Amino acid sequence: MKTALDLGCGDLKEANSLTEYHVIAVDRKIEGVPLPHVTFIEGDYFDMEFKGEFDLIYSDYSICFNRRERIEENFPRILSLLRQGGILIIRDFSSEEKVVQKRTNLDEEWFFELLRKNVGTLKIERKEVYEENHKHTHHLLIMTCQKV
Ligand SMILES: C[S@@+](CC[C@H](N)C(=O)[O-])C[C@H]1O[C@@H](n2cnc3c(N)ncnc32)[C@H](O)[C@@H]1O
Repeated sequence: MKTALDLGCGDLKEANSLTEYHVIAVDRKIEGVPLPHVTFIEGDYFDMEFKGEFDLIYSDYSICFNRRERIEENFPRILSLLRQGGILIIRDFSSEEKVVQKRTNLDEEWFFELLRKNVGTLKIERKEVYEENHKHTHHLLIMTCQKV
């Protein structure tokens, strides 16, 4: 079975939906019920030593809540666990997003360079998504890399 690592899994919605993977889902606190293909680990992912290799590493709206120094120091160690040919997907908010405060702006060259250096060629997409509940448009940034 393929393996995936979910950094900052929140309510486990994404991890639970990836039924073709064994998902290691990490968060500081548990907010959902893991399905049998999901292993939840509680704690700070930047303090952890993960074992093995992953076919997919992804993080949705999570890494931006960590300080730049923490990211620069610890993210390369996690990215080294991506298997050759494996995929990295990071979803975050673009610098157009004005509402989100108290976060590190990942929509910057230092972060893109970190991904290129530790994974490979980077694809950056930007999307605007209207959120009906909050009557607000989100400006999303989606970064995808394949390990070469
Ligand atoms: C905005 S929520 C997103 C949750 C989920 N990924 C989603 O898309 O619904 C961000 C999550 O990242 C977690 N998080 C942020 N930094 C973390 C870290 N260093 N270690 C573990 N969890 C972290 C928070 O606890 C929170 O649950």
